[in-house]
Amino acid sequence: MSGIFKSSLGKKYLMAGTGVVLLSFVVGHLIGNLQVFGPPELINRYAYFLHSKPALLWSARIGLLAALVIHVSTAARLTMENRAARPIGYAGGVAFGSTWQSRHMFLSGAVILAFVAYHLAHFTWRLPAVNGLGDFTKLQTVLDGKTVPDVYGMMILGFQVWWVVLLYLIAQVLLLAHLSHGIASAFFSLGLRNHVWAPHLQRAGLALSVALFLGFVSIPAAIFTRVIGADYAEKTRMELRAATQFEAALVRGKEAR
Ligand code: HEM
Repeated sequence: MSGIFKSSLGKKYLMAGTGVVLLSFVVGHLIGNLQVFGPPELINRYAYFLHSKPALLWSARIGLLAALVIHVSTAARLTMENRAARPIGYAGGVAFGSTWQSRHMFLSGAVILAFVAYHLAHFTWRLPAVNGLGDFTKLQTVLDGKTVPDVYGMMILGFQVWWVVLLYLIAQVLLLAHLSHGIASAFFSLGLRNHVWAPHLQRAGLALSVALFLGFVSIPAAIFTRVIGADYAEKTRMELRAATQFEAALVRGKEAR
């Protein structure tokens, strides 16, 4: 059984299967994030719900991480095999019918991976050093009588920083490039593409990639241009400042004692 995954075809199955898992997460994540266009309680309640089910959350996280590790390591092995099989490259520079996206899957994948690392530091681990504003763990709100993390406030404030918005935009362009080739290529690897279906599947892959791109970009764009959340951002900024000053005063108080 493990032999099949050592063959080139087996590796392509692995890439396609894990790619579908990662794509499903990205689609679900966008649908969840689009709730930022609703009232603050909507996305805060959703985030709180996800975090209140640790068994579910951690099973999903472990499954995603496994899919990511297999996807990236198989891509690295396939790239090395392809280079070893064609050390000189194609006459004329590029293979016939290839596109920028198909030739740079590894590069776009590497940038997306770097983005995910930054994104985790930004919104999941909430490291103050990477957001240009302060300690997002201090952002809290009251929901149904409980104090919960203010994910809405974190997003609204987080996307007011121009270079953060720029980083997200660059990542979304590369995600678009990666998926516009990757989705059609997964259909091909899984044997679902023949000459009748090929153009339709190619178009469907492109349409889904563009929809994801527009959906993800709409969030930082709407926030940065103050289409949504401008007042809430000011309130959150003041709360963050007050919480930071309060903590600094506490530290000074302890030192003085
Ligand atoms: C504008 C675009 C995006 C926004 C606004 C956004 C927002 C968020 C937020 C708020 C969280 C933290 C949720 C919480 O802890 O309650 C999060 C987590 C995460 N995001 Fe995104 N995201 C975006 C794009 C992406 C993309 C494109 C990917 C993948 C390619 C991605 C992958 C993840 C992952 C892996 C997590 C960690 C989930 C976990 O807690 O296990 N995000 N995102």
